[in-house]
Amino acid sequence: MLSRQILTKSPASIRLVSNTTFIRNKVTLPDLDWDFGDLEPHISGQINELHYTKHHQTYVNGFNDAVAKMSDLKDLLAKEPTPAIAREIIALQQNIKFHGGGYTNHCLFWKNLTPEKNGGGQLNKGKLKDAIVNQYGSLESLQKLTNEKLAGVQGSGWAFIVKNLANGGKLDVVQTYNQDTVTGSLIPLVAIDAWEHAYYLQYQNKKVDYFKAIWNVINWEEAGKRFEQEKILS
Ligand SMILES: [Fe+2]
Repeated sequence: MLSRQILTKSPASIRLVSNTTFIRNKVTLPDLDWDFGDLEPHISGQINELHYTKHHQTYVNGFNDAVAKMSDLKDLLAKEPTPAIAREIIALQQNIKFHGGGYTNHCLFWKNLTPEKNGGGQLNKGKLKDAIVNQYGSLESLQKLTNEKLAGVQGSGWAFIVKNLANGGKLDVVQTYNQDTVTGSLIPLVAIDAWEHAYYLQYQNKKVDYFKAIWNVINWEEAGKRFEQEKILS
């Protein structure tokens, strides 16, 4: 029988399993590189503060809870390998997908935003700019395509500019619903949040204006790093 003993306080817990001790850390909100008001006038400080401290925190908490429950269920399954436990594991996967997507998508989002005073919106010379121009003709064309995908989100979702490793590393724009993220061969370079909580306090029903404005604070330097760091699969 497995034994468990919580020995430390949050955020980490220590488990004792068959005389083996390991620390189970929890995910946390990432540090921001800028202050909440630094993206104004394009995204208000109030939106950023609520978005970060309330919405993103909810996904962080939900993901940690779901992962902990999954760990418990795996232990339980090892003792009681039954269809009932298997079904509980299957049911929990939706929570992991939703909150895990919310956690990771927002981490990408904060990092790929930066104030204009720090270079927001500026795509400088480099491999990413070359790839954008080669594929789309101009940054404006890529932005137009991305905005069309964002405008097509019915309800809540995201748009990602990705590097597609399964397609020779070419760029692509992928739209998802809810907190679905991109994984596998799709390397996210820029993630844009199309949930109402990302814009409604400032833009109300004019989400298209938010989609236009956000390009002024996109951190293309970060996107360029992500583009160059990933390796092409065979
Ligand atoms: Fe969000």
